[in-house]
Amino acid sequence: MVQVDERLKHIAFIMDGNGRWAQRRGKPREYGHRFGVETLETVNRYCQKIGLQVVTVYAFSTENWKRPKREVDTIMMLLDQYITKMTRNLKKDQVCYHFIGNLSVLSPKLQERIRQLEELSSQYSLIVNIALNYGGREEIVQCCNRLIAEGKTEITEADISRTLYTAHCCEPDLIVRTGGELRLSNFLMWQSAYSELYFTDVLWPDFSTDDVDAAITAFYSRKRRYGGVVTDADESK
Ligand code: FPP
Repeated sequence: MVQVDERLKHIAFIMDGNGRWAQRRGKPREYGHRFGVETLETVNRYCQKIGLQVVTVYAFSTENWKRPKREVDTIMMLLDQYITKMTRNLKKDQVCYHFIGNLSVLSPKLQERIRQLEELSSQYSLIVNIALNYGGREEIVQCCNRLIAEGKTEITEADISRTLYTAHCCEPDLIVRTGGELRLSNFLMWQSAYSELYFTDVLWPDFSTDDVDAAITAFYSRKRRYGGVVTDADESK
């Protein structure tokens, strides 16, 4: 089990590969999403145990509505069950949940349940962000429109950062994508500017705590220069 230090506070996961995992077993894609939720719970618990402060997961993108209705309905149903379970486990888990994305298109009932979970969990400090109907470009456009509505005629990076869905937490130090694709798929477009990226062929339902360790080990082998240089003093840290 690895332990993290102040260099690694936030990991974001693109949970890809549920559909292929199910299809390889001769099952419908929905079967993979069910196992995907179990992986999500295991990974979240593990990340908290090893000392991470923030975990963000890409649960549903603005583009995922294009999927067959049956698959979308299953993901929404799993989400509903997940909210029930997380609400029940709040005292034990001590996690603060934030749902990031354009939630206005969800059913009013689901929106209300999300709002309640966020409110009940707001006393805790470990953060789990669930990206739902989330799109990185949509987020930036929405920020710009909000700043225009505030009356701004010129905007700064700080203005955008404070208006993003993720204004309550630090930017991801590491973004992990499972399932073998090498892209960010409109995830955290602004926030990922200096994130380290880690890609693995492991499909999300198979992603284990050992795989989290492997991603973290890779992260610590990288040199983060933020456009500058790494000095000898930095190297010896
Ligand atoms: C990508 O795999 C996965 C998704 C689009 C949805 C992820 C959803 C879950 C893990 C379950 C629901 C989430 C919560 C929070 C309850 P894919 O279907 O694109 O896989 P493929 O690339 O193999 O087709």
